[in-house]
Amino acid sequence: MGTADDRATTLNGRILGISLAAALGGFLFGFDTAVINGAIDAMSTDFGISGFLQGFAVSSALLGCIAGAWFAGPLASRHGRIRVMVIAAVLFFVSAIGSGLAVGTWDLIAWRVLGGLGVGAASVIAPAYIAEVSPAEIRGRLGSLQQLAIVLGIFAALLSDAFLADTAGGAAEELWFGLAAWRWMFMAEAVPAVLYGLFALTIPESPRFLVDQKREKEAAEVLRRYTGVADTTAKITEIRESLKREQRESLGDLRGARLGLKPIVWVGIGLAVFQQFVGINVIFYYSTTLWRSVGFEESQALTTSVITSVTNVVVTVVAILLVDKIGRRPLLIGGSAGMALTLGTMAVAFSQSQGTGEDVALPQPWATVALVAANLFVVSFGATWGPVMWVMLGEMFPNKIRATAVSVASAANWLANFAVSTTFPSLAEVGLSLAYGLYAFFALVSFFIVVWQVPETKGRELEDMTDESRRRKPAPT
Ligand code: GLC
Repeated sequence: MGTADDRATTLNGRILGISLAAALGGFLFGFDTAVINGAIDAMSTDFGISGFLQGFAVSSALLGCIAGAWFAGPLASRHGRIRVMVIAAVLFFVSAIGSGLAVGTWDLIAWRVLGGLGVGAASVIAPAYIAEVSPAEIRGRLGSLQQLAIVLGIFAALLSDAFLADTAGGAAEELWFGLAAWRWMFMAEAVPAVLYGLFALTIPESPRFLVDQKREKEAAEVLRRYTGVADTTAKITEIRESLKREQRESLGDLRGARLGLKPIVWVGIGLAVFQQFVGINVIFYYSTTLWRSVGFEESQALTTSVITSVTNVVVTVVAILLVDKIGRRPLLIGGSAGMALTLGTMAVAFSQSQGTGEDVALPQPWATVALVAANLFVVSFGATWGPVMWVMLGEMFPNKIRATAVSVASAANWLANFAVSTTFPSLAEVGLSLAYGLYAFFALVSFFIVVWQVPETKGRELEDMTDESRRRKPAPT
């Protein structure tokens, strides 16, 4: 008995190792999207920019993310998951150094877009790869590592920016080799980029991809060594059959297609878009506006952002503990309800505010209400939709279309992120109450989308994911 347990522990250790290596892509995703926060002001002063161009320097990376997500899936279907990880690592590295050494705004923007391509690619490849190498019983936990890595990446960027600015005596001050601290903020990303590339080269290719490529011997070896499948012949036959079943079906296949795409792909897009429409990144990208309005000084903004980040990390761990036990649907449903409630509370609180835009201020007790509601919103999101959306994208599609379908949904996620973060400043001008009211409305809509359309994927084999599974009753527990 001891040996069976030992074997299970070894296998779980191995699978955890390769999932962590893939999730490092998520760390770079989080780091890259957050790192600009600490650099933007000093960089703008150095390059003499403000207003639109400054905003564009921040959001341009998201355009790269959309494109990176869009192309990663088809590339991964043809050339494998590992190659895409290595390409993403190179993009992260080149972008880190390029942004750090940029001579003007436009080349900085170009380097940021290049890094965005890496972020987009990583956002597709990590969930798909982790789902494909994981045993069904712990797939949700392993998939949630991606979100844990994202939020740790956001946190690390925040700390690294603060440390570098502090060491230099300000983000605009010279640090090492005559380069300003803000430049080192970008270059710091080169370190995790190199690690990610090196790890990617040591982990095995996905068995589902290998079977699709008719490399069944290698696939059997990966399944045996990493997932402990006893009868690899049966598993490989099952994968092969599932691929054959979907052989002639493509994303836009007309049989069963609605508006040009298969219904399950629309469900994936819906999850991806609503994960952004609830406004989570407004909290992360525009935290200063929010915290100032509830009465914090600019200098306290970092502390409050750190608190929000840590909250996000902690609640992701809660999700990891729950996702394979209670399932995806209950978490999403509870999350939507919690988000609708907390965002609704913020909308009510901000309807009491005086002033608009940068000068908005909340009287007591509404300031405290808004502050508590904002953090409870991060809790509601971080324990549910944050990780579960990425887990589900990785596992909800049939084998044949997975990589491409994750690409389409993930690109939609980045597009929605871009739409929300570029419209927020104008919405906030009209009133923060309107902005949060709108996000509350989207949270409410997301509740019904999950109740009516989203299948339970907990414990199911990837080979059982068909378009029909959407209409099936959730698996009994
Ligand atoms: C999810 C979202 C991402 C967001 C993060 C914050 O990963 O997809 O956009 O920044 O959660 O926790």
